[in-house]
Amino acid sequence: MTSRVKYLDLPKQFNHQSLWAAVREQFKTCQFILGSEVEKFELNFAKLCSTRYALGVNSGTDAIFLALKASGVGRGDEVITVPNSFVATAGAIMAVGARPVFVDVGDDYNIDVSLIEPAITRKTKAILPVHLTGNPANMPGIMRIALKYHLYVIEDAAQAAMASINGKRVGSFGDAGCFSLHPLKNLNVGGDGGVLTTGATSLYRNAKLLRNHGLKNRDEIEFFGYNSRLDSIQATIANYVMKDLETITSKRINNADMYDKGFKDLREFVVPPPRKKGFYQVFHTYVIRVKNREQLIKYLNDNGVETKIHYRIPIHLQKPCRKLGYRKGDFPVTEKQAGEILSLPVHHFLTNNQICYVIELIGDFYQR
Ligand SMILES: Cc1ncc(COP(=O)(O)O)c(C=O)c1O
Repeated sequence: MTSRVKYLDLPKQFNHQSLWAAVREQFKTCQFILGSEVEKFELNFAKLCSTRYALGVNSGTDAIFLALKASGVGRGDEVITVPNSFVATAGAIMAVGARPVFVDVGDDYNIDVSLIEPAITRKTKAILPVHLTGNPANMPGIMRIALKYHLYVIEDAAQAAMASINGKRVGSFGDAGCFSLHPLKNLNVGGDGGVLTTGATSLYRNAKLLRNHGLKNRDEIEFFGYNSRLDSIQATIANYVMKDLETITSKRINNADMYDKGFKDLREFVVPPPRKKGFYQVFHTYVIRVKNREQLIKYLNDNGVETKIHYRIPIHLQKPCRKLGYRKGDFPVTEKQAGEILSLPVHHFLTNNQICYVIELIGDFYQR
């Protein structure tokens, strides 16, 4: 059966003459890497987040890696983060030579702030909260702890462009914010891309040098760095999508509201995403917790509705984490949630009818 409610509709988003025209113009300039489109995007993005700087890089993973590197986090250091994120969060910590120290999450799928202090040791250098699903982590609480223990805060905002707490955008709370422009994200491009935000001039300068081999001019390097430059074509696409980001985000939020209302009478079976006053969630994913998940997935799929799980296996239960000493049972909330979570389609091309159809199907499934 062809899918009637797709998880995402990228062809619809990217199949636009005006986008092709912008990309064609950029191709004509033969400026393919960094350059004016990247600079324009950086200015646009810094404005969006109200941060002093934004730096275009080649992925969200690299944004985290470079933020850690530029802060001097490395071998022998510990970084406190969550086990329920995409593996890239912990992967970037490992890539700088540091050790991820996981703490469990709360009902909102974000770091449980009450568990951070007990996890701090003499080796702790940074806290790396994740704004999972596009819902901001409790940044005021995290910043208080970071200040008390003199720790860096690197926000993994890969899923959360435009999310905010009381009007303050994610990526502007900590020392750095790390965003992904991956095609599946709310602010997406036609390939890999990422952006790092910061208000700290020294972190920005370091990250900027690291992004381009440490080159301070055409001929000389300050130190050895990496190649993590953003392509101009991707920046052109990012600038194009950014014009619609507010509309895209509002539509996702409306869709989430509709689901919430639709699940009101199904509370026994379906737990909708928690909402917190002042927290502006952008719904990169709309995650519910459900009973009989695998059967529900099959039922939805048989009836033309695509779903996903973010993420089925928590990071601490991945093979390389055994060597770090983690095992099943370490993070009960994360592990329980991993067995119950389900991401429903929430993209901005969904029609109200499609959302009603998904709600109806889920109702039918539990009331059969
Ligand atoms: C929470 C989180 N962190 C980091 C990343 C890594 O971003 P990228 O795929 O752009 O490297 C992702 C992207 O999937 C993510 O969802």
